[in-house]
Amino acid sequence: MRTQVVIIGSGPSGLLLGQLLTGAGIDNVILDRVGKHYILGRVRAGVLEEGMVGLLRAAGAADRMDREGLPHDGFSLAFDGRDHRIDLYGLTAKRVMVYGQTEVTSDLMERREATGGLTIYEAASIAPHGFDTSSPYVTYDKGGTTHRIDCDFIAGCDGYHGVSRRSVPQDALKTFERVYPFGWLGILADIPPVSHELIYANHPRGFALCSMRSQTRSRYYIQCPLDEKIENWSDDRFYDELRRRLPAEHAENLVTGPSFEKSIAPLRSFVAEPMRFGTLFLVGDAAHIVPPTGAKGLNLAASDVHYLFEGLRDYYADRSTAGIDNYSARALKRVWRAVRFSWSMTVMMHRFPDTGEFGQKIQEAELDYLVSSQAASTALAENYVGLPY
Ligand code: FAD
Ligand code: DHB
Repeated sequence: MRTQVVIIGSGPSGLLLGQLLTGAGIDNVILDRVGKHYILGRVRAGVLEEGMVGLLRAAGAADRMDREGLPHDGFSLAFDGRDHRIDLYGLTAKRVMVYGQTEVTSDLMERREATGGLTIYEAASIAPHGFDTSSPYVTYDKGGTTHRIDCDFIAGCDGYHGVSRRSVPQDALKTFERVYPFGWLGILADIPPVSHELIYANHPRGFALCSMRSQTRSRYYIQCPLDEKIENWSDDRFYDELRRRLPAEHAENLVTGPSFEKSIAPLRSFVAEPMRFGTLFLVGDAAHIVPPTGAKGLNLAASDVHYLFEGLRDYYADRSTAGIDNYSARALKRVWRAVRFSWSMTVMMHRFPDTGEFGQKIQEAELDYLVSSQAASTALAENYVGLPY
């Protein structure tokens, strides 16, 4: 088989790139090692920047998001027993959209099927080859045979554990990493959110986040030790701990109910440079990971897609290589800004092993400055709604 672009990975970055390319008349095939239902079963991000919302519209996959997504004009920082609102819209004239990654993925898959795009699921041993040449190809096993797809370019959209980054000679890659000494224990439950906006809470017992997926579905997280066992956390224990970390007005209003998803996610910052190796491009989590504080992971995957799509579109329109030549530098500039923001939010909001009483006071002073200085609130809001592409 031959196509113009092989996309490895059918997560949000692979699917979004696929739809933008299809819309521009550029042939592409998506390969994933797992099935559609497995991908849709993963509960992850929930806050979309305007840039990503625009890309979903450009990809023709935004109708349901525009109907059911919740535009949010602000969020709260809770500390010292009180709530302090950050007026995103007032400070930046931009808002964010609360709409789950699972829904984004499902909408993109549906759009791909409607436009006749080919996705090969449950393909084993996927491997990119020859990407140091202008005739790369990808092999995979399915139905007892090894298949080969020849192409012009390979987009590695296969996440942190994928094969694309691992296929690059190790001496060609420079990696940067910070692992945080705690995780997030998250639950999803069909209960009304404790507040109509998100609450990020700094508390001596640890960080807590009250988010949502809709007006009837809540997504709550609490900071927990890395070695915590999920079996030790009944729903009641989770809600009790969440309540303790929230200001009284919210703790009193918390509606509880059975969770239908509960998981622990470790927190890390990771960047691999560069993001292009000949005719192979790394996109999204394949190239970088941020801790979830600030909701940047999915949005960064979308900005990578934007830069790569522009580069490929220009290449096929007039054989200009400027966009693909600049892809890595453009993407990494924005990646590092989001890595910095996510790191700073994580440091400001969590209890570290050495935070102690002094560290807690410093965090509270920083938060107090953030919410009382318009300059500082604006800087926070500008990063939260998403820096320009
Ligand atoms: P992925 O979503 O990881 O998709 C990669 C795809 O590639 C998958 O479908 C996978 O099956 C496939 N694949 C993997 N290996 C191979 C292979 N060898 N061959 C072929 N296909 C392969 N971000 C936020 O902003 N907020 C959050 O709350 C949040 N929570 C998260 C919780 C967890 C547990 C994780 C892991 C991430 C979370 N993120 C969050 C980050 C966000 O979900 C990611 O940034 C986003 O999914 C990146 O999209 P992607 O398409 O680049 O990668
Ligand atoms: C969600 C996750 C985040 O990391 C965040 O900052 C905001 C919301 C969520 O899953 O809803």
